[in-house]
Amino acid sequence: LKLFSGSSNIALSREIARYLGIDLGPMVRKRFADGELYVQIQESIRGCDVYLIQPTCQPVNDHLMELLIMVDACRRASARQITAVIPYYGYARADRKTAGRESITAKLVANLITKSGANRVLAMDLHSSQIQGYFDIPCDHIYGSPVLVDYLASKRLSDLVVVSPDVGGVARARAFAKRLNDAPLAIIDKRRQAHNVAEVMNLIGDVDGKTAVLVDDMIDTGGTISEGARLLRAQGARQVYACATHAVFSPPAVERLSSGVFEEVIVTNTIPVPLDRQFPQLTTLTIA
Ligand code: R5P
Repeated sequence: LKLFSGSSNIALSREIARYLGIDLGPMVRKRFADGELYVQIQESIRGCDVYLIQPTCQPVNDHLMELLIMVDACRRASARQITAVIPYYGYARADRKTAGRESITAKLVANLITKSGANRVLAMDLHSSQIQGYFDIPCDHIYGSPVLVDYLASKRLSDLVVVSPDVGGVARARAFAKRLNDAPLAIIDKRRQAHNVAEVMNLIGDVDGKTAVLVDDMIDTGGTISEGARLLRAQGARQVYACATHAVFSPPAVERLSSGVFEEVIVTNTIPVPLDRQFPQLTTLTIA
């Protein structure tokens, strides 16, 4: 088994390597003067099972391209089996057409990864579970919820209600609630007026006097989760926790998340959170 890391989350790759008790393989990564990327695997991988770790987080295009180049390099070096380990799968949110003349980027990216020569994909908390089927190669879809739930359970919070910040996330929130001793579920009916702009409309369920746990796959600009938290507070929630696997944290996420509306914001390390995007209420759990 050979393990290589792309450049998007080297800290996570090191943790995974440590957990497995192996070293990350040597690989050279360079950028040409015109911005093109260069990758060279620096040991023989002929006949080997190769795992390439690369969440395709920001800058998404660079990290995706680097992953494709890594896969291609491994294929041309006669690896036996190439698994693309993609803890965060960028371009996932366009998983269907919502208007005419749009692209379905989640499928396009699946095609690119498959065509580049990967034999298997290991992905975590895909934005929607049907993306698993966009691959014509095996795709293992794993979840961050055990890590998040264990942490929450260790806090021994009482009167919990798990809240989905939108209708699309109900299955995820329900599974989360089940793991938290069958906690009750509430659902926010969110309507979007534009990309990255969330507007909260309605709450289905009761949060009055309770500790609300908002569960989402990702926090990007923080609009969805912070608008949701405001609604929950207005509806009488005593405390609001936010749980998400992927800390995308595009501006102005930090300002929104640290505005005092959250007791705690709990994420995992599928995406590295740089120091300047950290804030006191943030807890980052490791998936390794
Ligand atoms: C949307 O369907 C996703 O599950 C997230 O709720 C959304 O992408 C988060 O984006 P933002 O933090 O920018 O509102």
